[in-house]
Amino acid sequence: MCGIVGYIGQQDAKKILINGLKKLEYRGYDSAGIGLLNQSGVHVFREKGRIADLEAIVDWKITASVGIGHTRWATHGEPNRENAHPHQSASGRLTLVHNGVIDNYEKLKEQYLVGVQLKSDTDTEVIVQLVEVFIGEGLEVAEAFRKTLSLLHGSYAIAMIDAETPDTLFVGKNKSPLLVGLGEGFNVVASDAMAMLQVTDQFVELMDEEIVLVKKDAITIETLDGKMVKRDPFTAELDASDIEKGTYPHYMLKEIDEQPAVMRKLVTAYRDDNGDIKLDQNICEAVKAADRLYIIAAGTSYHAGLVGKQLLERIAGIPTEVHIASEFAYNMPLISKNPLFIFISQSGETADSRGVLVHVKKLGFKTLTITNVPGSTLSREADYTLLLHAGPEIAVASTKAYTAQIAVLAILSVATAEAKGLQPKIDLMKELSIAANAMQTLVDQKEMIEDIARKYLSTSRNAFFIGRAVDYYVALEAALKLKEISYIQAEGFAGGELKHGTIALIEKGTPVIAIATQFHVNGNIRSNLKEVTARGAHACIVSMEGLNEAGDQIVLPEVHDALTPLVSVVPLQLLAYYAALHRGNDVDKPRNLAKSVTVE
Ligand code: F6R
Repeated sequence: MCGIVGYIGQQDAKKILINGLKKLEYRGYDSAGIGLLNQSGVHVFREKGRIADLEAIVDWKITASVGIGHTRWATHGEPNRENAHPHQSASGRLTLVHNGVIDNYEKLKEQYLVGVQLKSDTDTEVIVQLVEVFIGEGLEVAEAFRKTLSLLHGSYAIAMIDAETPDTLFVGKNKSPLLVGLGEGFNVVASDAMAMLQVTDQFVELMDEEIVLVKKDAITIETLDGKMVKRDPFTAELDASDIEKGTYPHYMLKEIDEQPAVMRKLVTAYRDDNGDIKLDQNICEAVKAADRLYIIAAGTSYHAGLVGKQLLERIAGIPTEVHIASEFAYNMPLISKNPLFIFISQSGETADSRGVLVHVKKLGFKTLTITNVPGSTLSREADYTLLLHAGPEIAVASTKAYTAQIAVLAILSVATAEAKGLQPKIDLMKELSIAANAMQTLVDQKEMIEDIARKYLSTSRNAFFIGRAVDYYVALEAALKLKEISYIQAEGFAGGELKHGTIALIEKGTPVIAIATQFHVNGNIRSNLKEVTARGAHACIVSMEGLNEAGDQIVLPEVHDALTPLVSVVPLQLLAYYAALHRGNDVDKPRNLAKSVTVE
């Protein structure tokens, strides 16, 4: 969370930084700021709110060829102008932006900053003040920077400018993501390559506890303990147009619409010339060799993991547990003798998941990451990676990554089954193509789904989604989608569980949306819906062709029963989208949230 950018070169930094911040706004959007360095000194502009609010207060006449910028998701101190980054040292010489959380900032403050008047409530300000204190004790700025970073406990991606060293950006990283971008006569830094694709596609990855001195024509990477590091750049394989909204009003709608294309892309990416599944045999062997799989994930990715458990058990026959990353870290279950840990993460940066990864690696267990972002931390640090090929997901509410995660888990299940010599009873690539067509039919029914959103969700304060078997997992995801962008209190429930307590919440007009895609529980879920209708609920049913009955509000085209979540979730994503839209909410940037959750 939080995004940082930096530029050093010959052009005017301001525009590049602001454009970069706009691309990072998904990482946090409660305040933003830039710091510019030119012959007349440092110029800092900070504002509460969005990048657009920052743009309104920047003095566009100032030109500078060095600068840093930040978009914030508040952790320490409320989201106001005083707590917005950049933060400056007492003399104003040093200006710094930071993404992450410094766990020991209070201790450092007590130990080193007695007598220094802090101007904000942030952990970040402590960093910049510390550097100045160490300069005051006689250290060169680069050494003071290094000493400060070696005292920090926690996560950070930092960029700092020094008014007395205008040819250098001081950069450091631990746990939070950070890349250095290389150009002709300029260099940049950014939390995510997307932010700087406007000027370069050549990037150098930074590892934890590395610091970089970035000049306009050279970069020097060193470890915190002073060892020089040589690392080749990589080419960011992102198409700048992938990160634009085009004619769509919101990224979320664009990303929902992209789902059929993502399915087709996955079919191509994971199929060989004979039409068989193509997957790294080392991964299949690792899954096959495991006596138990442990899926670790958060939020929507956790919900995809629940569906994945069913696929892996049903198709590959391997016992699978699914755990919420933040719980697993502190409440670890008994682990089997020969486990494989599977991390599911759109961003590949989620701190809760990474915490588990680091821990289980120390225990010597094998790990696989399923992610949308090649080169992300979870991908780099796991033994194996499978990519989602979903293209950048920018809306905070995850949609296409969820369906891609399920499809990749299905591919992994079938590939493992084949490696085990089992004969899976599914022609997966054909069934994924059928699912892609079904998704297309659903995204083409927006008007009908918008009407349902208007009818059921325009004034309600709460809503329930119910399902049984795999539909229950989709109910959880549908509820998360609705609550995070519409702010309607929504819960997903196992249909049979409602009557054990929660049914007390049903009153006249409460929307209850049931999902019915599974033959073996179709009768049961319909009975559960009758139970709530009898108590006044406003019932809506999403059923699958073949199981549908007269009066069902949404009927899904038929797909293989192992893959129904790929299609049942689509109208529910759209329901959430329209409910949020009708309430006038910012669909792509819901309140209090950020896309990449890089704090624990
Ligand atoms: C909800 C959503 C979040 C993420 C969660 C994990 O729409 O996007 O619940 O799924 O924060 O993020 P990743 O998948 O990046 O690890």
